Parts: sequence; structure tokens; C-alpha cells
Amino acid sequence: MGYVCEECGADYSKWSGQCVQCNAWNSIREIRLETGNRQAKSRVRGYTGSTSEVRSLSEVDADEIVRIQSGMEEFDRVLGGGFVPGSVVLLSGDPGAGKSTILIQTLAHAASERRVLYVSGEESLQQIAARARRIKVPVGHLKMLGETSVERILEVCETEQPEIMVIDSIQVMCCDTLESVPGGVAQVRECAAALTQTAKRDGMIVLIVGHVTKDQTVAGPMTLSHIVDTQIMLSSTEDSRYRILRATKNRFGAVNEIGLFAMTGGGLKEVRNPSAIFLSRVDPPGPGSVVNVLWEGTRPLLVDIQALVVASQHGNPRRLGVGLEQNRIAMLLAVLSRHGGLSTSDYDVFINCVGGIRVAETSADLAVVLGVVSSIRNTVIAPEVFVFGEIGLSGEIRPVANGEARIHEALKHGFKKAIVPGANVPKKVPDGIEIIGVSRLSEAIAAL
Ligand code: TYD
Ligand code: MG
Repeated sequence: MGYVCEECGADYSKWSGQCVQCNAWNSIREIRLETGNRQAKSRVRGYTGSTSEVRSLSEVDADEIVRIQSGMEEFDRVLGGGFVPGSVVLLSGDPGAGKSTILIQTLAHAASERRVLYVSGEESLQQIAARARRIKVPVGHLKMLGETSVERILEVCETEQPEIMVIDSIQVMCCDTLESVPGGVAQVRECAAALTQTAKRDGMIVLIVGHVTKDQTVAGPMTLSHIVDTQIMLSSTEDSRYRILRATKNRFGAVNEIGLFAMTGGGLKEVRNPSAIFLSRVDPPGPGSVVNVLWEGTRPLLVDIQALVVASQHGNPRRLGVGLEQNRIAMLLAVLSRHGGLSTSDYDVFINCVGGIRVAETSADLAVVLGVVSSIRNTVIAPEVFVFGEIGLSGEIRPVANGEARIHEALKHGFKKAIVPGANVPKKVPDGIEIIGVSRLSEAIAAL
């Protein structure tokens, strides 16, 4: 037996009246802890589970990881190539983001080859069936269960032996051993732990759906993220037609890949060539707007970056970024003041990455600074211009990775003029494009 605080999820070995972690009174409850060695048995071909043998790392065959395709390429891309047997994936997102839709769509395809069980505690089976018909997914093989008791779900697992199971959603699930209401920290944690244990033991893939709160954390915040192997998040873009799927934690792959989907009347559709969906397409563009070529995971993405510089009403001018780190903006403005000869100390500066994209690489530096210059001077940067490049503290423009591929992508979308780091200028400049290589910030500003 163990004890857990229902408010914050802290563990205790004995009962007490107040939780020392969160100071809540009378929130500590007894829980049953599973112990004992259960024999690993595998449901999935090729899954060897975990054994207690000591082996040297070189003996471990890395090919032992088999991957199961989800049926959607964009989904697999974010997972790092597909589902890994015995892993637990947390899919989080706002209500209405399309979590249930994407899972029904992908798993209906996977179900033609695998045993898939979809457990829904939120919607009735009739609702799910109606939606599945409407979006025309093959539902023939998909097994459904409307249940919220984890004990009962695990019993059904024993008989159905699913290879992939969906829990929609963890906030409505409950363990009979806990008295608290579903959705609380203790319940979420206990349910997730019970499901994870079974997943690891049997080599079953468990997909847990979790709603996020206003501050974008999954209820029962850290507890869930620590338990699962992979955490992916489905979020809407500003243009509400599109959805971005990205991994925030992945034990089996990189976390920098994003998957893009469009929400249509017939469910979610993959966006195979997404590079231009983050352009604002305002014609003609206003001052402060400049197109940057980002690199997301393994592909280029054209993103509109907008800067707005206005006279500050405060002694302490504001620097705000949507999709960009504030410290980076402050640093770039300092470099602009010292090496570009343009001070923004009397101005508030706002930077926005169009479409709700989050920029995690430095290639947007040049776009931010040139956007600011364009906004201060109130001049428009021609719509056929694109830029990318990192800016150093001494005003130097540094090359970024995949320069040539970025240029080719922009060329494909009709851009005709580039301001890029000198070292990123290709030896053979493609036809129909003028490339200005710059090595100092002052040169880049002059090139505008
Ligand atoms: P849903 O998958 O139920 O969201 P979640 O499980 O994340 O809460 O998706 C619901 C939203 O998606 C709803 O607002 C309507 C929209 N939608 C469409 O636009 N087209 C469709 O074909 C489907 C199934 C949903
Ligand atoms: Mg749902």
C-alpha cells in the first residue's frame, strides 16, 4: 500500500493530515501499488520487452525496435517513424483540436492489420460511429469500448489482446481504488500508471488523450509527462483550418518534426507540401513584414515575420514576441543599435510569427531585424524578397544549415530576391533569382 496526495500527486509511505508539498489538508489517500514479477508476454511480433539480464550495449540489437505505421505519414513523421510497441503516447490538445478525429482516422487504417481497441469515455459509441461514417473511414475492424473504469478496461485487454489501445480521454478515467473524482491529479496519475504498466508488460501501444488547461499543460502536469514515452500536441494555427502536430518529448525519435493537417468537412487531411501555409498573403504587404525560410525538422517552411515598432509611452519600452523568444528579440535590437546604427530605445517593439508557428532556430534573426528596420522607416519590403540568417553579437551574419534547400524552396514559391548570409550563397545560382550575400548587418540593411 502507498499514499498519494490528490491535489498535487505527491507520494507518501504513510498517511498524514496535511500534504507537505502543496499544504492541502485531508487530501492524502491510500492507493494500491502493483508489485510482483509478472512474466513478460508479447502481443506484438518482434517485441522483446524488458528483461533483467545484464548485457553490454554493443550486444543489444538496435534493430530490435520495430515500428508500426499509424496509417498517416504526417503522424508517423512526428512519432519518429511510427509507433513503438510497448510505448505510451500522450496526445494532448485543446478541446476541439481534433484529437479524437485524428485517432479514429489513423487507427481505422491500422485496424485492418492490427488488433486495435478504442476506449471512449467521453463520447457515446453512437456519436463516434456517426462521425466515422461521415468522414468515411473504414470502420470494419476497429473495436470500440465505452468504459471509464481502468480495472474493467484492463480486464477487457486480457481477453481482446489489443496491440494498439486508445484511451479517450485520461481525464474521464478512474481507478476504483481511489475515491476521488476523475480528472484529479491522483486519478490521472494512477490510471496512467496502471495503463503504462500493462503497456510495458505486454508490448501494447497505448495512446492516451489528454486535455490541456488554459496554460497549455495537461491536467496532472508533470506526472503524466514523466510517465509517458512520447508526448505529442495537436494545436490550431491562427488560420483555424490548419492543425500542427508536434512532439514535446520523444524517447524514440527527434522532437523537432512537425506534422501539418487541414481540418475539412471530411476530417483531417494531411498537408504534404506545407511550406507556404504560414505566409500571410496580404497583397501588398505592409511595412515591417518579411518572409523568412525556416527549417523545421527535415523540411523548409516559409513564414511571414511581422515587426511593429511604435513610440513608447513608458520609460521602460516593451519587447514582445509571439512565436519568438523575448530575450532573442532584445539581443537583436541591441545589435541593431550598436552595429546597424538604429536605436529602438524609445520604441515598443512587437514581433509576430504569422500562423502561430514557434521559431526555435536562429535563422529568423535577419528577418526580425530587417522587419524592425522596415517598420521604423515605414517602407515596404518587396513581396518577392525572402531572407534568412543568424546574427552574431558583433553584427556579423552567420550562415545557417541547409541554405541551398531553403533557397530552392523559396524559388519554387515564386520568390525572386534573397538576402542571405554570404556563406549560404550557392556556387551556382539558380536561374530566375537574385541572391545578395551579406556578411555584416550594415550590408543587409543597405541591401534593403
Ligand atoms: P474532435 O476530434 O472531437 O476534437 P477533440 O477530440 O480534440 O476534442 O474534433 C472536433 C472539432 O473538429 C469540431 O470542432 C468539429 C471539427 N471537425 C470538422 O471540422 N470536420 C470533421 O470532419 C470532424 C470530424 C470534426
Ligand atoms: Mg475528443
